[in-house]
Amino acid sequence: MTQRTLVLLKPDAVRRGLIGEIIGRIERKANWTISALELRSLDQDTLEAHYGEHKGKPFYEPLVAFMSSGPIVALVVEGERVIEGVRQLAGPTDPIAAQPGSIRGDFGTIVRENLIHASDSEESAERELKLFFPGLV
Ligand code: PPS
Repeated sequence: MTQRTLVLLKPDAVRRGLIGEIIGRIERKANWTISALELRSLDQDTLEAHYGEHKGKPFYEPLVAFMSSGPIVALVVEGERVIEGVRQLAGPTDPIAAQPGSIRGDFGTIVRENLIHASDSEESAERELKLFFPGLV
């Protein structure tokens, strides 16, 4: 089942020099391809659209502040079962609950600074890809 997903390497990953490490893990998976990649800073409108479903939750404001605290890397990854697959590589939201071997399990300790975002369903992927890469065909 070939899919497309949006991956964001969050500001902590960029600040800590983990771009290569994380992208390397994605690149080494068989039958996955990175088809777009960009370093950029996120504006408020993009962040509100991206995290709008969480508005009102206690973590919303700190999350948006954190995501605008420095540049991120946005990637489109395509391939076999890539939506579930990247989520597995990332590990659960809370890095302390994440298994060693996963990105969050190996490099994270703080929930807010959990290194990576990956679309959680086909519907989310479609919406998020349009938001971050509107020119994508
Ligand atoms: S929920 O309520 O179960 O839908 O939330 P969840 O899917 O776990 O997380 C949604 C996004 O919010 C981030 N998050 C947090 N950020 C900062 N602080 C805290 N405490 C926190 N809890 C959750 C989480 O990483 C998700 O963002 P993305 O970009 O998808 O990782």
